[in-house]
Amino acid sequence: MSRILITSALPYINGIKHLGNLAGSMLPADVYARFQRSRGREVLFVCATDEHGTPAELAAAAAGQDVVTYCREQHDLQRTVAEGFGLSWDWFGRSSSPQNARLTQHFAGVLEDNGYIEERTDRLVYSIDDARFLPDRYIEGTCPICGSPGARGDQCDSCNSLLDPIDLIDPVSVISRSRNLEVRETRHLYLLQSRLQEQIRAWVDSRPEFPALARSIANKHLDEGLIDRGITRDLVWGVPVARDGKPRAGFENKVFYVWFDAPIEYVAATEEWADALGGDWRRWWRTDAGADDVRYVEFMGKDNVAFHTVSFPATILGSGEPWKTVDLLKAFNWLNWYGGKFSTSQQRGVFMDTALEILPPDAWRWYLTANSPEHSDSAFTWEQLTAAVNRDLADVLGNFVNRILKFNETRFGGVVPEGGETGPLEVALQAQVAARIGDLTDQFEAIEVRKSAQALRALWVLGNEYLQEAAPWTAIKTDPARAAVIVRTAINLVGLYARVSAPVIPFAAEAMAAAVGEAWPPVWPTADSPAELARIPAGRAVAAPPVLFRKIEEADVAAWTARFGGAA
Ligand code: MF3
Ligand code: ZN
Repeated sequence: MSRILITSALPYINGIKHLGNLAGSMLPADVYARFQRSRGREVLFVCATDEHGTPAELAAAAAGQDVVTYCREQHDLQRTVAEGFGLSWDWFGRSSSPQNARLTQHFAGVLEDNGYIEERTDRLVYSIDDARFLPDRYIEGTCPICGSPGARGDQCDSCNSLLDPIDLIDPVSVISRSRNLEVRETRHLYLLQSRLQEQIRAWVDSRPEFPALARSIANKHLDEGLIDRGITRDLVWGVPVARDGKPRAGFENKVFYVWFDAPIEYVAATEEWADALGGDWRRWWRTDAGADDVRYVEFMGKDNVAFHTVSFPATILGSGEPWKTVDLLKAFNWLNWYGGKFSTSQQRGVFMDTALEILPPDAWRWYLTANSPEHSDSAFTWEQLTAAVNRDLADVLGNFVNRILKFNETRFGGVVPEGGETGPLEVALQAQVAARIGDLTDQFEAIEVRKSAQALRALWVLGNEYLQEAAPWTAIKTDPARAAVIVRTAINLVGLYARVSAPVIPFAAEAMAAAVGEAWPPVWPTADSPAELARIPAGRAVAAPPVLFRKIEEADVAAWTARFGGAA
C-alpha cells in the first residue's frame, strides 16, 4: 500500500492543549506522517478543531464572547501553536464547517433510512428561568453516587461515574445558578447501536492490526452489550437536525450531539482540504472511489478509543455505504503531571503555548517521543526533560555535529576533504549503520514510539564512538589522507542524521541538512549504507550550524518550577 491516511484525535476548541494532548495524539501522528512522506509514500494527514457541544458554549460564555467568534479565534490560536511545534497537517479543519454539517446530516439520514435511528421521548431537566433544557455540563449538583458536590450533569469527577442529569441532588443551572428547575419530556434521536452490535464485532475482529489496548477497550463495550445512544441535544451551537435543507419537525431547537459529528469531521476535513486545494477527497475515503488501497491510521488517547472502535464505526457501518474504515488505531495512555493529571479546566501543567516560550519545539518533541506514554502512563518531570535535552540532544547529537564540522573548518577550510580510502573502521561503521537504520525503519513502521527514539539515539551514538576510535585529530598529524576519510565519513553521518532524525526533530534536522548542503525535504535512507555514507562528495563547502541544542541549566529548572509547579 502506498497511500496513507493519518488522523489525530480532534482537539477540543476550548483552549490551548497541554503537553499530554500533544504527546498522546498530535505529535506521534506527525512523526509518523513525516517518516512516511520521507519514505516516498503519498500521505494525507488531517486534523481539525472539535468545536461543538457544551464545552465550547460554556468556554465562550466564560470568555465573554459569542461562540462563533470564540471558536474562530481559538482555532487560529491552536493552528499557530501547532505550527510552532512543526505539526505538518495537510489540513487543519473545523468541525463547524459547512462540509461537516452536510455530511453529518447525510449520515443521520441514511442511518434512519436503514432503521438505525429512532425518535424517543426523554425526561430532561428544564430551567424555567433560563427558558431552556440543561444538557450535560449545563447542570451541576451533588453526585447521587458518592455524595460529593459539584458533579456535572453527565459525569462526576470525584467518583468518575457517568450520570444522568435528572439524578443529580440539589441541581443548579450553570448558566443562571437558578434552582427553579423541573423535569420535562422532549424528543430526541437515538442511534440504535444495539442493532449494530454483531456488525461492529465482526468489523473489530476483521482489524488484525488493532493493538491490544484498542482491542480490549472495544471488546469490553461489545461484551457488556452496546446501548442505544442519544445523538441530539437541546443546544443552539452545533449541526442542525435537518435533512436536505429541511429542519426536522420538533427538532428546530436541537442539534446533533458533539460526539456524533466530531469523528465525521475526519471525512469532512478531507473535503475541506479538497475544496480549498483542489484534491480528491473520495479517493481517500470511499472504497468505490479507490480508497481500498489506502492504509488508514488513527492516533488518540485511550479515553477516545471507545468512540473510534464502537460509536464512529456504528455510524459508518450503519450507513451501509462504502466508507473507508480505520486499519490501525494507535492509542496512548496518560502523561501525568507530578502525581496528578495535566488539566485544562484547572490549568495544571505545561501547555503548548507556554512550552514554546521556554524551550524550542525539538526539545519537547524529542522528550515527548523518548518518554511517550505509550504502553503505560508516563510522568512528566523536569529532571527527565533536562536529561533528554542535555544528554541526548546536546551531548550526543549536537556535540558530534559541532565537533566534526568545527574540526573540518579549522583543518580543511570548511570543504569536505578528498583523498584516502575507507578502512576497516569505516567498513565496521557501515555495517552498524545498516543494522541501526534497519531497526529504526522497523520501529517507525510499527509506530513503536519509544523504541523509535531508542533506535534513533543508538544511531547518534555511533557517530561519537566512530570519532573516538578513528581519532582524526591524531591522524591529521601523521596521515592526512586518513584524516580526510574520517572527516568525510563523519560529515556524511551528519547528513544521514538529518534525514533519519527529521520525523522527530524536524527543525534541528533541517539545520543539519543545510549545514552540510543536503536537500530538503529529506528522503529516507536505503539499506545501502556504503552509498548512504558517500553521498556528500569531496569538495562541497560545509559549515557548523549555530548551536543546535542549548543545554538546560539548574537555574532554568528552578525558574520553571516556580512558574509551572512540579516538585524539584
Ligand atoms: N475532542 C475529543 C477529545 O479531545 C476528541 C474527538 S476525536 C473525534 O477528547 F474524532 F471524535 F473528533
Ligand atoms: Zn460521584
